[in-house]
Amino acid sequence: MSSEVEALGYIGLEVSDLVAWRVFAEEELGLQWVPRDDGTIDLRTDQYATRIRLHVGPRDDLAYAGWEVKDGAALSALAARLERAGVTVDRADAAVAADRRVHSLIRFTDPEGNAHEAFFGPLQKTNDPFVSPAGARFKTGRQGLGHLVLACRQKATMMEFFTETLGFRLSDHINTEVVPGRPIEISFLRCNGRHHSLALAPVPIPKKIVHLMVEVTTIDDVGRALDRCMKGGRHLTFTLGRHSNDEMLSFYPLTPSGFDVEYGWGGLEVDDESWHVLTHDTNSAWGHIYQRPPKPAKLESVA
Ligand SMILES: [Fe+2]
Repeated sequence: MSSEVEALGYIGLEVSDLVAWRVFAEEELGLQWVPRDDGTIDLRTDQYATRIRLHVGPRDDLAYAGWEVKDGAALSALAARLERAGVTVDRADAAVAADRRVHSLIRFTDPEGNAHEAFFGPLQKTNDPFVSPAGARFKTGRQGLGHLVLACRQKATMMEFFTETLGFRLSDHINTEVVPGRPIEISFLRCNGRHHSLALAPVPIPKKIVHLMVEVTTIDDVGRALDRCMKGGRHLTFTLGRHSNDEMLSFYPLTPSGFDVEYGWGGLEVDDESWHVLTHDTNSAWGHIYQRPPKPAKLESVA
């Protein structure tokens, strides 16, 4: 099935500790930190005005995912397709679109209540070029921001929604124990040449987001980010490794919000004409050793 969705355009995160996030995002990941008048933060990775938006709040989780379509006709077609499938679509007004720094957007939720947006016309800051404070360059373009992994409880229902209703294509499955002793099947879905823009992982965690992946253009950019994270004492949930399916060479620093970022290079580009769905029984060709995150400090009991 063809899809109007062409890329993961942006995501919004609700985070409780902006000070810690600034150190992580700017100093360690090399993202550009752009404060807004309303107290939110735009994190940039390229010429887009925003790619990751930080909103201050207690949830420390995904707030919304923004999917890019080509133009107004594609957005209307997607809205109609969602409504035919019984999904409630909110056509956001101009103020909301301006806030998201796009021309127009619609909002809807998936079967597990995750908030999604679809948009066209992202604002480009050609007069204010992206500058990484760490000199990193990010691979975006037609492949979008990167990829998002969502935790899910009813995976079959979620798969049906994203493939049948939104038109994502299945790249492969991994049947594995990402965490020892817990076998699961993770499914990887694409909407452009990037091997996956979305993965669905049936993992019993309290958060909606498992991780967000950003890809840099050289292996040295991964190495230098790894150095910065280690120097900063950042916990790595998975050590440096190479994934079995998309061949991404990456490591997973733990964000101040308790979920991971995957920071990678060398991801596979899929050719729709020749690709066959594959099955893997290991998450990684090497590396990606799981390291249990440190437990938060116990709260002092109050008499
Ligand atoms: Fe990933």
